[in-house]
Amino acid sequence: MTIKINIAETRTKSSEEPPFLEIQGRKKLSGEVKISGAKNSALAIMAASLLCQDDCRLRNIPSLVDINRMSQLLQALGVKVHRQGETLDINAINISSSQAPYEIVSRMRASFDVIGPLLTRLGVARVPLPGGCAIGARPVDLYLQGLQAMGASVQIESGGIVYACVPSKSGRLQGAEIYLNKPSVGATKTIMTAATLAEGETKIENAAQEPEIVDLANFCCQMGAKISGAGTNTIVISGVDRLQSVDYSIIPDRIEAGTFLVAGAITHSDISLYPVIPEHLMPVIAKLNSMGCRIITEGSDRLRIMPGNLKAVDIETLPYPGFPTDMQAPFMALLSISEGNSIISETIFENRFRHVAELNRMGADIRAKGNHALIRGVPKLAGAPVMATDLRASAALVVAGLAAEGTTIVQGLHHLDRGYDNIESKLQKLGASLQRINPVQAKN
Ligand code: EPZ
Repeated sequence: MTIKINIAETRTKSSEEPPFLEIQGRKKLSGEVKISGAKNSALAIMAASLLCQDDCRLRNIPSLVDINRMSQLLQALGVKVHRQGETLDINAINISSSQAPYEIVSRMRASFDVIGPLLTRLGVARVPLPGGCAIGARPVDLYLQGLQAMGASVQIESGGIVYACVPSKSGRLQGAEIYLNKPSVGATKTIMTAATLAEGETKIENAAQEPEIVDLANFCCQMGAKISGAGTNTIVISGVDRLQSVDYSIIPDRIEAGTFLVAGAITHSDISLYPVIPEHLMPVIAKLNSMGCRIITEGSDRLRIMPGNLKAVDIETLPYPGFPTDMQAPFMALLSISEGNSIISETIFENRFRHVAELNRMGADIRAKGNHALIRGVPKLAGAPVMATDLRASAALVVAGLAAEGTTIVQGLHHLDRGYDNIESKLQKLGASLQRINPVQAKN
């Protein structure tokens, strides 16, 4: 006798039960999807707006939990923040506190980005060691070494609070030559923003080259900062005395766009993405092309993906312009139903394979050892209840659910909501069958 189990009913229906996504897979997608502003640019630029003693208007701000958290953090520092639609007005004329609250910093790594601007504006900053996605140890040693090289005194106080101050004899951070052992995105952002108002010239060697670094540099330059070389591995910043008011629009999110390209590929669909900066997606497009997908650029800011046969490829994650670690999990879902065997090597974060067990629950054949995963392509995935373990893992499970036969239930949506702006309504508009179910509301 076959026992039919309704997956949704197998969950405990306690009042604390969090919302989940229910996806009916195997629907073809079609049409166009609007790509939101880049989360990792927006967060860094919001933190950098602390540098400005004037009004900052930021446009194309995505609607995300992490953006709300960064707004709360700025408000806790005494900054005025007002949001209307996709526009955020920030006024940091008065910063009333140099201490970032633990409750926010412990939940979002990007909040550590305030350390450079706070130190620059106030000469002192107390910021707890950061939290965020559990994808590796994620130290901040390079950030702190950079600030020390610029003359800051840095200590870790009890309770894991980083206390940094500028010695009173100089009053300002001093320009320095800084070589980063790794091209860390976070350390590059921190040193670059701290250097905008420092005395003299700062040179960052082996700097991160990610598009979000360039966006942050462009934002700072529009405020009057002097930065050259952003987007290369050597960035030079000449300190200025003051930054002025700015009206700035954030670049489109290359990782959201890449996730939709994977959604198109895995469902063998024909969809367009707009607006995008195709150049930012080159490593992702190149991989999809070598897997057999057909992608064309339409105009300067639109991409179209068309159905193709999916073949195995090997992937190694690398700093930009290499293949982005943030696309590793969605690509693993895609490779799990591609023909042949693929190897993924994750070289950026040491614990970013927690989605493997969940994809295997859906019928994938993936074995991970250390920082390598062997993916043996299977003909199809089957719907299952799965748990998101971090932000990009949650995206991988959603795209896997779109391709799987039957019903997939994705739990752990608090991860998804940190980084994907209205993903279910965007997918619904493309024709996907999925809905967010709030068990508490469903019961009442
Ligand atoms: C940024 O993280 C992004 N986060 C990440 O996106 C992204 O995966 C990562 O860059 C790489 O592109 C934000 O922008 C908020 P790193 P970040 O400093 O700045 C080591 C997402 O899903 N390291 O370039 O933390 C570190 O442990 C997120 O949106 C040190 O050893 O990345 C890692 O192994 C997740 N010491 C490597 O460098 C340091 O002081 C790269 O980290 C700093 C970093």
